[in-house]
Amino acid sequence: MSLQERLNESRILNANDENKIAGLIKEKIKNGKYIFNSDFDSKSEFKDKLFILINNELENLCPSVRFLIDDEFVEKILSDIFGLGILEKYLNDREVTDIFIQDTEMIVIKNGLKNYLGKVFDSIDDVYLIIDRIKTNSNKIIDQRVPFLNTDLYDGSRCSIVIPPISDKVYISIRIFNCLDFNLKDLLKIGMFDEKTYLTLIELINDKKNIIISGAMGSGKTTLLNTLAKLIPKNEFINIIQDTPEIRLKEHPYVRLLTTRPKSREIDNEISQDKLLFETLRMKADRIIIGEVRDSMAAYQMLQALNTGHNGSFSTIHADSSLDALLRLETLALEYKPNLNSKVIKKIISRSIDTVIFLENEMDANSNIVKRKIKEITLLDKDLDERGDFKLKYL
Ligand SMILES: Nc1ncnc2c1ncn2[C@@H]1O[C@H](COP(=O)(O)OP(=O)(O)OP(=O)(O)O)[C@@H](O)[C@H]1O
Ligand SMILES: [Mg+2]
Repeated sequence: MSLQERLNESRILNANDENKIAGLIKEKIKNGKYIFNSDFDSKSEFKDKLFILINNELENLCPSVRFLIDDEFVEKILSDIFGLGILEKYLNDREVTDIFIQDTEMIVIKNGLKNYLGKVFDSIDDVYLIIDRIKTNSNKIIDQRVPFLNTDLYDGSRCSIVIPPISDKVYISIRIFNCLDFNLKDLLKIGMFDEKTYLTLIELINDKKNIIISGAMGSGKTTLLNTLAKLIPKNEFINIIQDTPEIRLKEHPYVRLLTTRPKSREIDNEISQDKLLFETLRMKADRIIIGEVRDSMAAYQMLQALNTGHNGSFSTIHADSSLDALLRLETLALEYKPNLNSKVIKKIISRSIDTVIFLENEMDANSNIVKRKIKEITLLDKDLDERGDFKLKYL
């Protein structure tokens, strides 16, 4: 039975009809019969237009019948055509923090728990279609010669892709920032810290302390940094240096976002953290925020910048404790300046950094993150102790 005959008979759309109509519309868009301008300013405008197109298709097929078009159906076509297909549903889920794709299978982390969804793509070609869309939007390359892609998605999520032959399968890892709209009070409410710590954090910002936020992967470093940065007075110039534009301060008028760029194979156009840091110093920023310190030259230059009067700056670093964060900074800086001895670097660090916050993931027996908490707030003395070690005061 043709689609038209079936519709005339039943007057309602079943999943099969919806797929066929979606296919017709996609085909017409592909052939340029329906023009969608991707510069439309809102998703709701796309949606309204799509709703009319679906109605037109149905009217052409069965002029005398009126169908009820369900919102979920329109959303589904919308994300198939313009968004990231099946990923959209999870990108919009406030309880999902990570999406992992391995070939055609998908795993999402929802409320800290790993959910294995099994095979969600019909074929690996469908996975490459998603990669193509991500690639096109980011203007970056991923192919056999450059088998990695690190970028942000249209909603600000951080995405990294690795493809064979470097890996055994296609791997797509997406970090969704579902708490970025939060302010410090929201983090207090969800139990990341207690009231006393809340007041301490506000005091640290008001006193323009230089803060390093440390913790394991996914422990909420970027999220905490973002909420702390929201407390910076609106009249200050803030330079934010990051690899993907994760930190957003929409309400601040003087925010300068600087994003690093990896080396491309055509030209040597790499822009590293330290180059952006150098520019930042010329731009007379009041505060410097470095998304994550991982570059040895940048680590050293950041310390120098903080040492010479940039107060109230923040950064994050991957570490297992406050002390470990300082030792990692030391190792990075020493990598860049091997001729300096460890005591000199430690001295520079203790003069530059005022506070280290350490975040801990509370895990369950299956390695799921059940809670993210501030475990330590550590004040660093400006002087080293008699043995040349850091003098730390745990609050
Ligand atoms: N207190 C919290 N409670 C629940 N979810 C949180 C909390 N803090 C952060 N998240 C969410 O957990 C995820 C990881 O947070 P975030 O990216 O800030 O961690 P990170 O330590 O910077 O990770 P990475 O090491 O990968 O950079 C995000 O989706 C974020 O929205
Ligand atoms: Mg982070």
